[in-house]
Amino acid sequence: MVPGSHNNSWLHRFAIFTALATLFLIGMGGLVTSREVGMAVPDWPTTYGYNMFLVPFDRWIGVSGVFEEHFHRLVATFVGLLTTILMVWLWLKERRKWVCYLGVSAFLLVCLQGLLGGLRVTEINQNLGLVHGTLAQLFLVLICGIVLVTSGWWNRVKASESDRVGFMALKGALVAVICLVFVQLLLGATMRHQHAGLAVWDFPLAHGQVWPAMNEDAVAGYNEKRVKTVAVADIAPWHVGLHMVHRLGAVATLALVIAFAVKARRQLGQAHGFTKMGFVLLAMILAQAGMGVWTVWSNKAADVATGHVVLGAACLALASMLLLAAKRCAFVAESANAAERLAKRSDDEAIDPGQTAAVAV
Ligand code: HEM
Repeated sequence: MVPGSHNNSWLHRFAIFTALATLFLIGMGGLVTSREVGMAVPDWPTTYGYNMFLVPFDRWIGVSGVFEEHFHRLVATFVGLLTTILMVWLWLKERRKWVCYLGVSAFLLVCLQGLLGGLRVTEINQNLGLVHGTLAQLFLVLICGIVLVTSGWWNRVKASESDRVGFMALKGALVAVICLVFVQLLLGATMRHQHAGLAVWDFPLAHGQVWPAMNEDAVAGYNEKRVKTVAVADIAPWHVGLHMVHRLGAVATLALVIAFAVKARRQLGQAHGFTKMGFVLLAMILAQAGMGVWTVWSNKAADVATGHVVLGAACLALASMLLLAAKRCAFVAESANAAERLAKRSDDEAIDPGQTAAVAV
């Protein structure tokens, strides 16, 4: 057991609550972008000149756009408060300094997030919105990491040498999955903030072809149709390319996660908890691809697009937790091996004087 962390079950539960609140916050932020109401409240840190906690209800409740943006700010403040409490609690109760520093990192990240969200409004800068959306998901990964390292599982887990070998064999595939999901996040976030989600509005074909034409004339034709059907803002050839790369990325991610789940089953066996979680990840990635397709078919309905964002964040968090868990198991197995080797050596050394005496006789 890790010293100093045996009686922290409430701290662990609080970390879980913070993670769930963060996922909800990502959903609220996603909804603001999906409904394109990021500028519905033009000032910050005030809301229409009011202290954000004292805005009269009739100025925001039921007011389309303002409600989403203002509520997002309130939920963000709540998550900031939870993160501050989490950091202080960790410093009071947790003896592993590196875990305390995870709490400090989360605190600094949530402050930076607040600042970026505010600047996105005051500077009217879409790119800041993109960074804000991406960092939100990294923040979730960090909080989920704190959830895992404060859990009873982290302290109790036992791993055999064959587990260690299995985890080492899976590590590369898992890192690749995390990188691909993150690249999908970057592509998806760029698409959202560049309004390129419907640069291609049919599926499984793309503008009626397997790979759409992307020259100026073809894109001018798409723009003409877009005005009549899906959106008013024009797109450029690179928007079409970006959308198609996101689709290709989905195929690659799916293939890689299938390979990972199959390999986990082969290395660790069907009944191993890690294998089961690998298949949960596969189910989530399948659902994520389905939500992506649904986003296109629904003409980018705000709730569907937001569901796609939230599930994407959950996929990234789960894949990262699996990597952390694999590393923990490999470490535990290695420590057990080292302890065994040490015990054997001290046994041998204890025998040694006797052997020496025998030789002397
Ligand atoms: C399976 C792997 C996939 C992953 C991990 C993934 C991830 C994401 C993420 C995280 C976002 C939002 C980024 C943000 O704003 O923070 C996004 C946006 C988007 N994704 Fe995916 N996606 C996947 C598959 C697909 C597929 C198969 C399609 C369509 C065929 C698709 C279509 C879209 C669209 C259209 C958007 C932008 C929505 C908007 O503009 O509101 N995605 N994706």
